[in-house]
Amino acid sequence: MEASGFWLHTIFGYSALVLVLWRLGWGYIGTRYALFRNFIAGPRSTLAYLRAEASDPSTIQVGHSPTGGWAIIAMLALIGLQACSGLLNGGELLMEGPWFQAVPGWAKDFAHEFHELNFNILLGLVGLHLAAILFYAVKRKRNLLPAMITGYSKAGGDSQGVGSHRLLPALLLLALAALIVWAIISLAPPPSADPMDMF
Ligand code: HEM
Repeated sequence: MEASGFWLHTIFGYSALVLVLWRLGWGYIGTRYALFRNFIAGPRSTLAYLRAEASDPSTIQVGHSPTGGWAIIAMLALIGLQACSGLLNGGELLMEGPWFQAVPGWAKDFAHEFHELNFNILLGLVGLHLAAILFYAVKRKRNLLPAMITGYSKAGGDSQGVGSHRLLPALLLLALAALIVWAIISLAPPPSADPMDMF
C-alpha cells in the first residue's frame, strides 16, 4: 500500500468500525428481523434448520436463516477486529493507526500479523458468502440479492412485516457509533515528533 493512499484506507477502516458498532446496537434496539434474539440460533436449531432445508428446499425462512445469522456474526466479528487491529498497526513510515505509538512492541507485532491474516480470512468469508448466494440462485432458484440490497422480502403464511423503519433511533445510534469511534481516535496520545522514535 502506498503511504499517499493511506488516508483513504483509514477513512474506510473507521467507517467500517462505525457500521459494525451501529449494527451491534441495532441488533438490540432495531426492527424485528434485525434483532439478534430473532436470528441467532444455537447449534441444535441450526442443524435442524439445515436438515429441514435439505429435505424440503421450498422451506422459506422469513428474516435471517440460522446459517445466515452465523454468517452475520462472523462478518461483524472479523470486520470489527480488522478495524480494531488497524488502530494498533503500523511500521511503515507515515502509515500507522492512532494507537500504534502508545502500545508495547508485542502488541504492535500482534496487531500487524493479525491485520494481515484476518484480512485473508475475511476474503475467504466473502467468497463463501458469494458461493452461498450462487448456490441458492442455481440450485434453489431463489435470488437472495434483492432482499439483501433493499431489505424487503416476500413472505407467506402468518409472518409479520416490519411496521416502521425506526429511522430516528437508527440515526441516533449511528451518531453514537461515530462518536465512540471519534473518541477512540482522539483519545490516542499525539504521535511522537521524531519519526525515528518508532524504530
Ligand atoms: C475493516 C477495515 C480494514 C481493512 C479491511 C484493512 C485491510 C488492510 C490490508 C489488507 C492491509 C495490508 C496488509 C499487508 O499486506 O501488510 C492493511 C494495512 C494497514 N492497515 Fe488496514 N484495514 C482496515 C482498517 C484499518 C484501520 C481502521 C486502520 C487504522 C488507521 C488500519 C491501519 C493499517 C496500517 C497502518 C497498515 C499498514 C501496515 C504496514 O504495512 O505496516 N487499517 N490494512
